[in-house]
Amino acid sequence: MGSVHARGLAANPDAELRWAVDLDLPRAEALTGEIGGRATASMEEALADPDVDAVLIALPTSLHRMATEAAARAGKHVFCEKPIARTAGDGEAMVRACAGAGVTLMIGHVVRFFPEYMRIKEIIDAGTLGRIATVRGSRLCSPVQERSPWFADVEKNGGVVLDLMIHELDTFCWLFGDVERLFAHGLSFDPIHTKRDYAVASLRFRNGVIAHLESSWAHTTFRTSVEIAGQYGLLRQSSDDATTLTLERTVALDDALTRPARVLARPHSVSSHEREVVHFVQCLKTGAPVGVSGEDGVRAIRLGNAVLDSMRTRRPVFFNEDGSVREP
Ligand SMILES: NC(=O)c1ccc[n+]([C@@H]2O[C@H](COP(=O)([O-])OP(=O)(O)OC[C@H]3O[C@@H](n4cnc5c(N)ncnc54)[C@H](O)[C@@H]3O)[C@@H](O)[C@H]2O)c1
Repeated sequence: MGSVHARGLAANPDAELRWAVDLDLPRAEALTGEIGGRATASMEEALADPDVDAVLIALPTSLHRMATEAAARAGKHVFCEKPIARTAGDGEAMVRACAGAGVTLMIGHVVRFFPEYMRIKEIIDAGTLGRIATVRGSRLCSPVQERSPWFADVEKNGGVVLDLMIHELDTFCWLFGDVERLFAHGLSFDPIHTKRDYAVASLRFRNGVIAHLESSWAHTTFRTSVEIAGQYGLLRQSSDDATTLTLERTVALDDALTRPARVLARPHSVSSHEREVVHFVQCLKTGAPVGVSGEDGVRAIRLGNAVLDSMRTRRPVFFNEDGSVREP
């Protein structure tokens, strides 16, 4: 994600990429060799640069708090990838650190910047579907641990729930408000299925909406879908429908192509990741509030951890009106 954001910044006339920071220095050097900026393995070196205004954090999830607090101490604005952190407590500390330093904090819940979801929000807010009854959201991909081993440590980084389901948890709160209770099943703590992960959760929102969420690191290729049923009709979106050409391969053809691949021809010219960072930069320029706040990130991670708790304890989780977990 760091290189995705760096490329987006390089194409943004309102921003300049000053540094690419990665412990894996050759990785950072390869990127800056291609798009400009300087490479370093030292976060401190980049944060000491007075010409740096803001930092985009795309580190493994368990490091988000450390990096955000370091950036806030250096007086830099922060865009941090989702999930905000491993725990709600860490997320709250990040919100406090940024507020205390007077810097902006935005969380990369990119789904809110997908044109389809922006339109879904408009349709629901306009009352076109009437009262919403049920919603289904699904986000499926191949095992990411094969690409980046840090994802495999569920205790440290939260598995498929904090990687994929967090998107639906955030988006559905954005659309439907607060959650009253939830229940989940999954493979995140299963001793046999260690190479894959899968989770399914059902949520009841305070406004009565019932949601079914499914997330997987056990499929071959990336696909998402959402279905919203209301009083006056049904709204559906599937990433497959936006695909004009599909090639799915489960077997490697040569050494350079070792992962399942799917060729997508999407009709959008600007990626949603680029759009969210353009938004962040615009907010810094104008002083407007960011579209996804640190508090939004905390709300999503609290739900994500409740899903993991429900999976582990096989019990439902209930929430108080302030969003905190109600003790049984
Ligand atoms: N919004 C999205 O669509 C999306 C998609 C993928 C990942 N993400 C999020 O982005 C974050 C990063 O995920 P990724 O897939 O890019 O991971 P990745 O493993 O591809 O990249 C992480 C990078 O961090 C570097 N790194 C690790 N520890 C470091 C340290 N202490 N100092 C400097 N560099 C260090 C690694 O060398 C690696 O290059 C995660 O929080 C993930 O949840 C978001």
